[in-house]
Amino acid sequence: MTETFFPQDSVAPAVEYLRARFPVGPTVGIILGSGLGGVAERAPTLASIPYADIPGFPVCSVEGHAGRLVVADRRGLCVAMLQGRAHRYEGLTLEAVTRPVAVLAGWGVKTLIVTCAAGSLDGAEAGSLMLIDDHLNVMGDNPLMGAGWRGLGASRFVEMAQAYDPALIEVAERAAGAAGLAIRRGVLAAVAGPTYETAAEAEMLRRLGAQAVSMSVVPEVIAARAFALRVMGLALITNRSGSVSDRRVGHHRVVAVAEGRVELVAALLDGVLSHLAEAPGS
Ligand code: HPA
Repeated sequence: MTETFFPQDSVAPAVEYLRARFPVGPTVGIILGSGLGGVAERAPTLASIPYADIPGFPVCSVEGHAGRLVVADRRGLCVAMLQGRAHRYEGLTLEAVTRPVAVLAGWGVKTLIVTCAAGSLDGAEAGSLMLIDDHLNVMGDNPLMGAGWRGLGASRFVEMAQAYDPALIEVAERAAGAAGLAIRRGVLAAVAGPTYETAAEAEMLRRLGAQAVSMSVVPEVIAARAFALRVMGLALITNRSGSVSDRRVGHHRVVAVAEGRVELVAALLDGVLSHLAEAPGS
């Protein structure tokens, strides 16, 4: 007889492990995408825990993803920063990919900021920033299929019409303005990868209404909304999707461009954290 697997059983040991170290857990979680892990090193840290030490945490196999959970007091807030993520294209289920989100929610996180490297579909230059205001899930999968996270209190039929908190988008725009950064809003399409888009695929995504494309973020945002977390999404453009001139672009260049923008992203996130520290609910 095959054993029934309940995804929720994979979460409690991780929450217990983290609570034993930090009984008063973080209220904000930040997932740092390809090349952006350095954001977590721009402030004094309270702890840096390898994913391999956290029971059930998916270990990252991709370069540019350190695989550590950093806890820091940042702008007066206790923040959990995830240096790297697991992806669907690594052969994992979306249940495994989004398990860290379920763990953060169980630990007490209320706001999740999700970042990623992305290819632009509208000509935006490498190095520019886009606040995600909506998404297209073209991964052909969803983390809430099957048991999803319902055993932990998450919903199944989740409202996604305003998944990206409109107030947080405005806060981020003001924080960018204060830091002198140009930023725009846009729709992120998520593909399963790991191949980059053909020119025809990029054109398809453009016609569907996306301004940028990545291989992550969307499953985490779906899981976060299932747990009723407030969500903010930030995409760092590292290349033009499907562009002939960028055909040779590979993961190395994506990571290098992102690493060059770590200061910028850290400044923007600190602006958002300052606001959350002063006015948690607004
Ligand atoms: N496509 C999909 N994902 C990506 C890209 C891209 O061009 N660049 C960085 N992540």
